[in-house]
Amino acid sequence: MALDLAIILPTLNERGNLAPLVERIAAAMGDVGWEVIIVDDDSRDGTAEEARALALGDPRIRVIQRIGRRGLASAAIEGFCATAAPFVAVMDADHQHDPALLPAMLASLQAQAAEICVASRFVPGASTADWAAPERERLSALANRVARRLTGVELTDPMSGYFMLETARARALVPRLSGIGFKILLDLLATAPKTLGTPMRVKEFPLQFAARREGTSKLDRAVLFDFLAGLYDKTLGQVIPTRFALFGTVGGLGVIVHFAVLSALLFVLGEGFALAQTAAVLVAMSFNFWLNNWLTYRDKRLKGWSAVLRGWLGFCATCAVGAFANVAVATFLEGRGLFWALAALAGIVVGSVWNYALSSRFVWGR
Ligand code: GDD
Ligand code: MN
Repeated sequence: MALDLAIILPTLNERGNLAPLVERIAAAMGDVGWEVIIVDDDSRDGTAEEARALALGDPRIRVIQRIGRRGLASAAIEGFCATAAPFVAVMDADHQHDPALLPAMLASLQAQAAEICVASRFVPGASTADWAAPERERLSALANRVARRLTGVELTDPMSGYFMLETARARALVPRLSGIGFKILLDLLATAPKTLGTPMRVKEFPLQFAARREGTSKLDRAVLFDFLAGLYDKTLGQVIPTRFALFGTVGGLGVIVHFAVLSALLFVLGEGFALAQTAAVLVAMSFNFWLNNWLTYRDKRLKGWSAVLRGWLGFCATCAVGAFANVAVATFLEGRGLFWALAALAGIVVGSVWNYALSSRFVWGR
C-alpha cells in the first residue's frame, strides 16, 4: 500500500498510552497508507523502549528518540523532516485527540478542498471538558481576533495541537518558524503568507476533546503567555528577537529588585554600602535566573535541584563577566568624552548581550 500519511506523535512520558493509541489509529485508517512517527524526548518512563517494541511488531511504526532536546513544536518539525509521506498530521499521544478524524482530513487535503485541516474544539459539533467560564470565552474571542490578524485566516481554535497538511508545504515553512516553544499550528499559519505568498486555506473539523487516558499534562497552563510571545515573535520579533526581549525585560525587573534590596539594607537596616550592594547583586542575579528559567527559557526549563544549582552558578559566573564588560565599556567611553548616561547605557547593552549570548548557550543551551 502506498504511503499517504505520516502521523506524528510527540511524546513525553506516554508509555501506557502508545499501544492503545496505535490500535485506534490502525482501526480508523481503513485503506489509507499510514505510518506513525513517535518523536520522544527521552522520556523517563520508557516511552521510547515501548515505541521500539511496538515498531518491531509493525513496520508502520517509527521512532525518533531525541536526547538532550525538548519541545512539542520542535518534535513536530522533526517529524515533518523525517517522513516521505505526502501528508502529515500532528496529534497528541494521550488520547485527547480522536484519530477517527484523520481519514476525513486527509480526503479534504487530497481533494484540495483545503491546504490545512485543523481539529477544533470550538466549532458546532465539537466539545471540550473544561469550557464553561464566560471570561474564558471572551478571552478566546479576543485571541481569535488577534490570530486572524496574524494569520489572515478564520480560526476558532488557533491553539489546537491536532492538524494535517501537505508535508512539502510544512517543510517549506520550517526555516521561518519561531525558535521558541510557541504553538506550532499558529506559527505555521502565520508564516505561510510570508513564505508562500498567501495564507493557507483552512478547514476545521469538530473535535470531541477527550480526557487524557493516562499520565499528566506536560504543558503548563500559560496558554496566554505562549500566545503573546508568539504574537510578539511574528511582529516586533523580526527586529529584536523574542528571547532577547524577554531576557532584557527580566533584566529590567532585576534592576528594580536590586534597588529595592539595596535601599532596604541601607536605609531600613542601616547596613554599610559594600554589604548592601553585594546582597542586592546576589538577590537580583538569583531573581533574574529564576524568572528567566520560568519565562524566557520555559521551553528548556531547568528542573531538579542539581540542574537548577548548576544553572544558577553558571548564570552568576556569566553575569560576573558581563558586569566586568559592562563597566569596562562604560568607563572607556566615558573617558573618551561620551555623555555619562550614554556611556552607562552602552555598558548595559554590551553586558546584556554578553549575558544573553553566554547564558543561552551555556546555561539553557542543551
Ligand atoms: N517530544 C515531546 N517533547 N513531546 C511533548 C513535549 C516535549 O517537550 N511536551 C509535550 N509533549 C507531548 C505529550 O506527551 C503529548 O503527547 C502531547 O505532546 C501534548 O502534551 P500534553 O501535555 O498532553 O498537552 P495538553 O493536553 O496540556 O495540551 C494540548 O492541548 C492544548 C490545547 O488546550 C496540546 O495539544 C497543545 O498543543 C494544545 O494547545
Ligand atoms: Mn493532553
